[in-house]
Amino acid sequence: MKNPVMPASGTFGAGREYSELMDINRLGALVAKTVTLKPRDGNIPPRLCEVSSGMLNSIGLQNEGIDHFLKHDFPFMKEFDVPVIINIAGNSLEEYAQLCREIDRVEGVSGIELNISCPNIKAGGIAFGASSKLAEQVTAAARYNTQLPLIVKLTPNVYNISKIARAVTSAGADAISLINTMVGMSIDTNTFKPNLGNITGGLSGPAIKPIAVRMVWEVAQSVKIPIIGIGGISNALDAVEFFLAGATAVAVGTANFINPLTMTDIISGLEAYLVDKGFTDIGQIIGKVKT
Ligand code: SIN
Repeated sequence: MKNPVMPASGTFGAGREYSELMDINRLGALVAKTVTLKPRDGNIPPRLCEVSSGMLNSIGLQNEGIDHFLKHDFPFMKEFDVPVIINIAGNSLEEYAQLCREIDRVEGVSGIELNISCPNIKAGGIAFGASSKLAEQVTAAARYNTQLPLIVKLTPNVYNISKIARAVTSAGADAISLINTMVGMSIDTNTFKPNLGNITGGLSGPAIKPIAVRMVWEVAQSVKIPIIGIGGISNALDAVEFFLAGATAVAVGTANFINPLTMTDIISGLEAYLVDKGFTDIGQIIGKVKT
């Protein structure tokens, strides 16, 4: 990676729309929206709702399935001079294993991110990420079926995230990304109805940043593998907080919807911050919070 900044899966599609607005080659990596074995229609609308300092989503992992992704989206993504990470989700261990086997055969993939943290689907998703035993099993199943760098994306909807981080590390994860969204709910005060068709959804944006920083800090005390910090990052100083907490890279999600140039602004802002503070390498601030 030429820098430690990438999009958070699901907020950037395959990059097609953003490629008309920004220079994708400036990014540290490209992370595709979650892909599953078979196409998924997703949840009933409305699927998005703005809330104070963030938004709720309940997309339900809508996607066209791995075959379509590898035929239509991946070829577009790999044209850029940027490593491509494919994010996958399954309903069972075997589905995660099969996805890993299929992706392992594809030339030009730089890594696989396991989504074991989607709060909006009934089978799979968060169920795998909320139990250290299941998180370990799904990571082991993926590990057994791919040689590619393996990133496991954790949910914040757990009591002890360090325990889950240790479980996936011992099962062979090469890196951890955190956090996915927090389960939330919003109600229309005129109709008395929930603002999302799925009733609940995942909260993202600045509202969750302090929780994400705290969890990155906790996980950084517990495991030695690299951490990708995610959660409400909107500018370079937000990213710096994650590095100080122990992240070695960051992913930007909701802020891309407000300003599609957020990530390139963060890359420039990080460079300016390091120069201003007299550092020559981002590694000099990683984990350097003074507690
Ligand atoms: C969704 O598709 O519902 C969101 C994806 C996620 O939270 O992992």
